[in-house]
Amino acid sequence: MEKAEKYRLLDRQVAALLEGETDVIAKMANVAAVLHETFRFWWTGFYRVAPVGSVGEPVEPPSPRELVLGPFQGPVACMHIPFGKGVCGTAWKRNETVVVPDVEQFPGHIACSSASRSEIVVPVHGPDGAVTAVLDIDSDRLGTFDEEDRVWLEKIVTLL
Ligand code: SME
Repeated sequence: MEKAEKYRLLDRQVAALLEGETDVIAKMANVAAVLHETFRFWWTGFYRVAPVGSVGEPVEPPSPRELVLGPFQGPVACMHIPFGKGVCGTAWKRNETVVVPDVEQFPGHIACSSASRSEIVVPVHGPDGAVTAVLDIDSDRLGTFDEEDRVWLEKIVTLL
């Protein structure tokens, strides 16, 4: 099956799967699972924007924020990523999708796994338009992601 056909089916599947669900963690978990299973990526998951050191502690706004590991499929990954760091932090800072055909050519790439060769990171937006999370997908092959992935994944994350 062609990539476009897979995404078309996936888009409908995700919409059906998430219908009526309000818990964002549950939604992210199933989106990661369905993407990972469809394309057999190396790593598929979310990092959420959260106040630094917020685990279990109430934090007064405004406070510094970072990306914290969320629902994912694949090998263990780094749990905290600062604003502007790595591909994930860069996508958050720029507020745009970042496609990296070769991670070794991306300055500051955070190597959670040496098997990761290419990557795409797509910002997820809240109702006010602010970035609330990023979808991070890693491949163990070079040049896996292109414009087609960007367009479909940006559409899919709006369903969250
Ligand atoms: N490669 C990412 C870090 C997260 S792991 O790949 C899961 C980055 O540079 O942002």
